[in-house]
Amino acid sequence: MCGIFGYVGRPANVGGMVLGALKRLEYRGYDSWGVAARENGHVAVRKQTGKIGGATVDLPAAAIGFGHTRWATHGGVTDANAHPHLDCTGRLALIHNGIIENFRPLRDELLARGHQFRSDTDSEVMVHLIEEGVASGKSLADATRAAFARLQGLNAIIAMDVTRNELVAVKTISPLVLGLGEGANYVASDSLALTEYTRDVVYLEDNQVAIIRPDEVTLLDLYSGQPLPLKRERVDWDAGDAGLGEYPDFMSKEMAEQGRVVRQIATGYAERARALADLIWGSYGTFLVGCGTASYAALTGMYLFSRIARRHVNAVLGSEFKYQEHFLTDRSLALALSQSGETADIIEAMVTSRGRGATIGALVNVRGSTLDRMADFSVPLGAGPEQCVLSTKAYTAKLAVLTLTAHTLAGTPEIGRELLLRAADELDRFLAGGGAARVRAVAERIAGAEHLYAIGRGLSYPTALEAALKIKEVSYVHAEGFAGGELKHGVIALLTEGTPCLVFAPNDETRDDILSGAMEMKSRGGLMIGVSPQDDPVFDIHLPVADVGDASPIVNALPAQLLGYHLARLRGYDPDKPRNLAKSVTVK
Ligand code: G6P
Repeated sequence: MCGIFGYVGRPANVGGMVLGALKRLEYRGYDSWGVAARENGHVAVRKQTGKIGGATVDLPAAAIGFGHTRWATHGGVTDANAHPHLDCTGRLALIHNGIIENFRPLRDELLARGHQFRSDTDSEVMVHLIEEGVASGKSLADATRAAFARLQGLNAIIAMDVTRNELVAVKTISPLVLGLGEGANYVASDSLALTEYTRDVVYLEDNQVAIIRPDEVTLLDLYSGQPLPLKRERVDWDAGDAGLGEYPDFMSKEMAEQGRVVRQIATGYAERARALADLIWGSYGTFLVGCGTASYAALTGMYLFSRIARRHVNAVLGSEFKYQEHFLTDRSLALALSQSGETADIIEAMVTSRGRGATIGALVNVRGSTLDRMADFSVPLGAGPEQCVLSTKAYTAKLAVLTLTAHTLAGTPEIGRELLLRAADELDRFLAGGGAARVRAVAERIAGAEHLYAIGRGLSYPTALEAALKIKEVSYVHAEGFAGGELKHGVIALLTEGTPCLVFAPNDETRDDILSGAMEMKSRGGLMIGVSPQDDPVFDIHLPVADVGDASPIVNALPAQLLGYHLARLRGYDPDKPRNLAKSVTVK
């Protein structure tokens, strides 16, 4: 959460440069944004609430500047709470990602010593702590070290001293990447914001302090202050086509890319699936760990491995993992499923796993991300940049890798490959062959609905959960997913005349039972929308999809994504940036 970008170098149009970088990072948070640069020896700040959109900033050319996009944690969404925050003198500025858990006592202490606070944020305490250190004669780096050591929580901060043309960066868990340029150096929360300027980067490790000047970057240990070697790395992966192309928004673009992504996994991932299957085979206890949409990929994985490979794996929410750590041993495999590779709860789960000696695996989309780098074995999803806050192609990519791996573990990789190829073709066919128009017509019919329910069994149970998540997070229609068998244990009480109900009924062992559950819903007035290879009298509306066997969760994801998308559009919402959400959730 929160996007960060900083520059120190030759005098340049810092405002424009920082704002451009922030736009690339805006998926991390878009409640408000702010930019700071040097102006006449002081910090000049421009900040405001809302998305950046077509905004410009009128800042003078400067040799130092930085900026921030915010996802509010402490303090409402106001101009004053937007970053950067200044010290009392106007010489220092600070941007922050994370949560300072002990900010209250620190703030009280600083207020008692006469500091003026201009915001309600936890972040502002840090700049006043640094101010005291600098006032006592410490360098910016030493003052930042001393202040940061007092913080509790997972935090990344950058402090600026305009009188010295110097940025100081430090972090625990929350990511920061340094970019090494010619006569200029950079820092960002994601290398995506750096590749326009440089591909030479240093991934800042926890408890390292970076001093960033125009012509050099120095690293110090947070506690001892001793210099540390710079581990220079080259970003050799291509961020791919990050533009919109012919599409009106990133959600449409990313949904349309799913056929290509799944096909690429079908044809190019045999060795990776073999290696992952070997790891699972050799482990005594495999845990698939994810949050949000990725958690439903994990749950689907549990069914896939059971059904295809007769192997039990556990699916655990990142935020719940630590409560199950007692099962971890040095023979466990913890497999992180994450688009961003930066989700704090998953990182914490992996840190816990490492502490117990477990092997760490990762299925991540963003190369060079924290989970990608910390894993003993990492499978890049190769889906290309996913910029819509809702995860679509990274979800189906995870399902594709899990399907192929389960078949590889079962000794039937060719079957897995064939099913994925059929699923990839079906994703393309559905979009091009009238499926999308049919879903739009359904959206028009139910656009005024207050509630929607989705049901599935077995492999399709997580599909129902994911369908409901997609629909509610983008269209704000209240949607819930259920296991079909749970209906009569309470959910059915919620049904009223005309309530739309999505029914996932693939040609597998769940079909008869899920159709009979659908009949029970229809009898209570539900409007039954069937996602299924065959029509059935219980369906009021049939959305036909091809029968792709074990790959059905991949093709069944698309109608639900499209339904959420069209509901959002019809109700007047931006599908790429739903309210209150952020793509990369780097706080707990
Ligand atoms: C956020 C996003 C979701 C995503 C989840 C996990 O909530 O809005 O789309 O599924 O985080 O993110 P990850 O990057 O770990 O897959």
